[in-house]
Amino acid sequence: PTMEKEPELLNIWEVDEVPLPELTKELWDQIYNFQAKPDDLILATYPKSGTHWMQEILDMIQNDGDVEKCKTDHSLHRHPFLELKFPHKEKPDWVIALEMSSPRLIKTHLPSHLIPPSIWKENCKIVYVARNPKDCLVSYYHFHRMASYLPDPQNLEEFYEKFVLGKVLYGSWFDHVKGWWAAKDTHQILYLFYEDIKKNPKHEIHKVLEFFEKTLSEDIINQIVHHTSFDVMKDNPMANHTGIPSHIFNHSISNFMRKGMPGDWKNHFTVAMNENFDKHYEKKMAGSTLNFCPDI
Ligand code: A3P
Repeated sequence: PTMEKEPELLNIWEVDEVPLPELTKELWDQIYNFQAKPDDLILATYPKSGTHWMQEILDMIQNDGDVEKCKTDHSLHRHPFLELKFPHKEKPDWVIALEMSSPRLIKTHLPSHLIPPSIWKENCKIVYVARNPKDCLVSYYHFHRMASYLPDPQNLEEFYEKFVLGKVLYGSWFDHVKGWWAAKDTHQILYLFYEDIKKNPKHEIHKVLEFFEKTLSEDIINQIVHHTSFDVMKDNPMANHTGIPSHIFNHSISNFMRKGMPGDWKNHFTVAMNENFDKHYEKKMAGSTLNFCPDI
C-alpha cells in the first residue's frame, strides 16, 4: 500500500541550509528563543537513531523504574519535541513544554548549531544518541513511507541520493553527528551510540546514571533493561506509536517499531550503493575522531 499524504504538511523550508518541516517556519522565532531551565534534560538525535528508545530509558530513570508512571501517555505525548507541531495536536510541542512541570525531558532533532541558545546558557544536560548512517537511512526511508507528514520517498534509490546529499529533513547525517560530537567538548553532553546500547544496554544505562549523578539498584536497572527492550516496547501501546491516528502513522505500511536491529541496511543496499556510501562516508568524516562500528 501507499500512504495518503497530507499536502499542506509536506512543504519544507531551510534554516542555514538545513531542511526543516514547513510547520516550524512560523514558529521558528519562538522555538529558537525557547527559554530552557537548568534542570531540563535534552535528548538530541538525528531522526531514526533511537530517540524513542532513549526517551523510554530516560523516563524510566527519572521515574526510578516505575513502569506505571512511564505508561501515563503515549511516548509522543509524554515528552515534547522542541521544534515540532504534530498534525493531531492542538498546540505546538514547545508550548506544551512551557506548561510542563520540572524536571522536563525535551526531545529535539535539531543540529547543534540551531539549538536555542538558552539551552547552552542554562548548561542543561544533553544526551545525544547517534546511529550508524546506513541503518539510519533505511529506517528513515521506511518512516517516510508510513508517516503522512513526510514526503513520499518514492523508492530506496531516490531516498538514498537525497540522504547522502543531506536533502532530507534535518539535513546531513554527517554534519549532525559531527556537530554534536564537537559540541560535547564544551557542553554537558553524553554522546551515546545506538549499537552500543543494543550490545550492552546495562552498561550504557550505567553511563547515563553516572552522567545524572544518580544511583539505582541493580533490580531497578534490570527492570529498565527489560521494559526498554525492543520486544517489550513493540508490545507496549504507550511506546509503539500504534495509538497515533492511522492517517498520521500507517502501521499497515511499516511499523514504527520496525526491526530494531543494527545491520538491516545489508538487506536493502546493493553492492554498488554500499561502495558509493563508503566513499562518501570517508570523504565526509575525514579528519574526525568520531568512529562508528566497523561495519557501519
Ligand atoms: P528501525 O526502523 O531500524 O527498526 P527514532 O525513535 O529515533 O525514530 O528511531 C526509530 C528506530 O529505533 C527504529 O529503527 C526502531 O525500531 C528503533 N527502536 C525503537 N525502540 C527500540 C528498542 N527498544 N531497541 C532497539 N531499537 C529500537
